[in-house]
Amino acid sequence: MALTGSLDIGRLELRPNSVERSFNREPFGFDHNLSQLDMFELGSLASLADKQYGPGHESDFFLASSATAPDERFRAVKSVNLSLTDAFCSLNKHSIRILLKRPEDHDPRFRKLRDDLMEQILDRSPELRNDRILRLESAIFITSAATLTPFHFDPSAVFFCQIMGKKTYHLYSPTTLTEPELEQFYFRGMVDIAQVELTKRDPKEEHVFQLSAGTGLHQPQNAPHWVETQGDISVSYSFFFETLTARKTNRIRGFNHYLRMAGAQPQPPGLQPGIDALKAEAMNVWIPCRKTLSYVRSATMGRS
Ligand SMILES: [Fe+2]
Repeated sequence: MALTGSLDIGRLELRPNSVERSFNREPFGFDHNLSQLDMFELGSLASLADKQYGPGHESDFFLASSATAPDERFRAVKSVNLSLTDAFCSLNKHSIRILLKRPEDHDPRFRKLRDDLMEQILDRSPELRNDRILRLESAIFITSAATLTPFHFDPSAVFFCQIMGKKTYHLYSPTTLTEPELEQFYFRGMVDIAQVELTKRDPKEEHVFQLSAGTGLHQPQNAPHWVETQGDISVSYSFFFETLTARKTNRIRGFNHYLRMAGAQPQPPGLQPGIDALKAEAMNVWIPCRKTLSYVRSATMGRS
């Protein structure tokens, strides 16, 4: 698909009605021009990491080696004992996955890119324009050849763009997860990734995307996935967000977790709008209390 426009502007080439029809329901592919932007050259990314992700910014990046199997636990994956600068220099020598979080906080070009791309999604979706966008962030992934990210799901709607190298992306529809699986994650009010068991999924529900430079995919919120980098260094970029509607649904599931622990069989979100609103409101109060209690307990026990 031919892409036009100035080379310093990130553009998504979305197929007609793909966002309107499938956003946050089913995965779909698209094309983009991000591979043509200088800011994604490996040297530019190494320089960004060197200058902007130094001492004091340790929580803004993540280093890991490859998993050995798609169903390996995240915590079991070997850590990488290198500085970020050394990790960049070792991509060809070792098995390394680098995640640069929120580049928009470190370089205005990435802020503009994130906002431009989000605008293009909003242009396609009356549903999203009528919602509120919360926690809009982006991330850059730089990985060695032949690395593997284990099976998990993310609490955000994701647009994932392959910039360099090739990835095989194994993605399932959100409906492959059960309500109890979702509830046990959302009751904590966290925004981190969540692991679930790959063996419980129906292989017929797997979408396999062969991504190369200039291609991308939409990953609905709660769509579990695992990812393989093929035979060369890979660079990918994603931007992701939560809507106000999705956050309410998360909170309803959080409330349902407590009901289920008490022996009830709660109705999933969407079937009882009035009761759903009460559940979400209750969790709006409970989640900050729970976080405060956890902090106080840690501080009292000397672990804060
Ligand atoms: Fe993910």
